[in-house]
Amino acid sequence: MNQIRVGIVGLGRLGKIHATNLAQNVPGAVLVAACSFSDEELAFAATELGIEEIYNSYEDLIASPNLDAVCIVSPSGYHPEQIRQAMEKGLHVFCEKPIGLDLEEIKRTVQVIHDHPEQIFQLGFNRRYDESYLYAKNLIDNGELGDLMVIRSYGLDPISGLKSFVKFAKASNSGGIFLDMSIHDIDVIRWFTNKEVVRVWAIGKNSAYPELDQLNELETGSAMMQLEDKTMAILVAGRNAVHGYHVETEIIGTKGMLRVASVPEKNLVTVFNENGVVRPTSQNFPERFREAYISELKEFIDCIKEKRQPGISAYDGLQNTVVALACQKSFETNQIIEIL
Ligand code: NAI
Repeated sequence: MNQIRVGIVGLGRLGKIHATNLAQNVPGAVLVAACSFSDEELAFAATELGIEEIYNSYEDLIASPNLDAVCIVSPSGYHPEQIRQAMEKGLHVFCEKPIGLDLEEIKRTVQVIHDHPEQIFQLGFNRRYDESYLYAKNLIDNGELGDLMVIRSYGLDPISGLKSFVKFAKASNSGGIFLDMSIHDIDVIRWFTNKEVVRVWAIGKNSAYPELDQLNELETGSAMMQLEDKTMAILVAGRNAVHGYHVETEIIGTKGMLRVASVPEKNLVTVFNENGVVRPTSQNFPERFREAYISELKEFIDCIKEKRQPGISAYDGLQNTVVALACQKSFETNQIIEIL
């Protein structure tokens, strides 16, 4: 099996990036087919990436006899059914986060994934493939921070992305800020600690962008969590960072602490000008996680070739969603939500 033939569904904000990576930047992968509801996006796939098989129905995509694997980058609510359909067709599946929006549907999907152990299943929790997060994970696993006490994690989207987020949220249900954004922080918390979250309290506020009220979305959400060994976690998700795209994590342990990207630096350049000493800032997710998006797909292809499952499991996808839904419920009911 020299070349893994992949079909992609969804060519929106992230789908175009994954499609380009599969077509150009992932050794061993060949992007043979694409599916989207948008003619403009399909024209992109045909002309920019040279994809010959173009579909506007997912069922037609996975019916193609030329596929080994599918990359699902459609809106989150479609993920569970599309995963199940692909698994039942015998395809390997890479699916974007979250694994789904509805717990019962996710549980059924996890069962289908378990029923097909020979097929690779990977979720797009890209921070697990980021060089800095991997470095931090290594230090933690080597015991260099001692026992973990507190994790603080931020995911702040740039205000420049609000327009495209509003379009995304109008087109389909994002699941809300905790399921759409904080789920990355929740995954990092569970991954770094190897512990489960047992209770959460979440709050939120809209201030500058009333259009988010109309969409039932939050501008800023925050949650406090307790893990099974009493480790504390605090997360903040926002859609209104005026300085750029800010993803930051801090871990405090008994032997030391570390921060990942406490200043969201674009690169190593410092500009000295009339504004003072200025550090350019990373502006959006494609820029900040460019390498991680490539690495996670390389891992997917390597897993298929080497017949092994990746470190992130369907169970992680389920548990991350359980915690994110608990945050949403806590925000809506103003109650502490117990998970276990
Ligand atoms: P988008 O709204 O920009 O694009 C959605 C795409 O799916 C479009 O091409 C649309 O034509 C297609 N589509 C819609 N309904 C479909 C259906 N029923 N069947 C097939 N295709 C359909 O969305 P975006 O921002 O690209 O997000 C897609 C997924 O990626 C979401 O699940 C989101 O949570 C995730 N995401 C993950 C990120 C990460 O950093 N890991 C960053 C951004 C998004």
